[in-house]
Amino acid sequence: MQIEGTFKAPPHYTKYVFNMKKHLTNLKLQGGFAYSPEQIQELEPWLLKGDSIRVLELGAGDSSVKLCEGLKSKYKNVKYVCYETSEQWAPKHDNIEVRLHTNEQLKAHAPAVQLGEDEIYDFILVDGPTGVIRWQWYALIKDHAAPGAIIHIDDYSHYAEFEQALRDNFPNFEELSRVERGEINPHTWLTVKVL
Ligand SMILES: C[S@@+](CC[C@H](N)C(=O)[O-])C[C@H]1O[C@@H](n2cnc3c(N)ncnc32)[C@H](O)[C@@H]1O
Repeated sequence: MQIEGTFKAPPHYTKYVFNMKKHLTNLKLQGGFAYSPEQIQELEPWLLKGDSIRVLELGAGDSSVKLCEGLKSKYKNVKYVCYETSEQWAPKHDNIEVRLHTNEQLKAHAPAVQLGEDEIYDFILVDGPTGVIRWQWYALIKDHAAPGAIIHIDDYSHYAEFEQALRDNFPNFEELSRVERGEINPHTWLTVKVL
């Protein structure tokens, strides 16, 4: 499907996509509250090479299990941690560790939302909690991104705070993709690589 809006990809992207086995396509992602298929399949060429990946998802839902299964078909070892405010949306999957918290804990940077000192992630998805409050995550994750980590921000343009907090906490990144809302694609997203 054609993605409407602007799409900035490095020149080698097309060659990559053509040659590679695709593990993140056909995941039956729903769109709407969940990720759209386009935004997840676009990420695959940028994800870590090798047989292990450490994933941190902030805001879970229908996509979490599907994405985890897709990654498991690509990597031997997948560490997948989700932070979520709602029991209802917390994914139930043997391979996914769910950490429930409240908006108040996130606002206060309480222990419940603090990552362990030695936790490092290669792939970080920012998609919750609902509303502007998720900007608070960036200060909490800034010391937990591996060099070269991919950060994918869903609906990045809904609040200016999302991109501002990214820039405040990750001063050095390469922008990989910025997609604006289109008629076919109702999501916006921003994907960066931490330098
Ligand atoms: C945009 S949703 C996150 C969805 C998740 N990343 C996905 O793609 O399935 C943001 C927040 O809304 C809640 N949520 C998740 N799935 C939902 C749904 N289908 N309908 C309403 N709220 C949902 C969760 O609390 C989540 O943190």
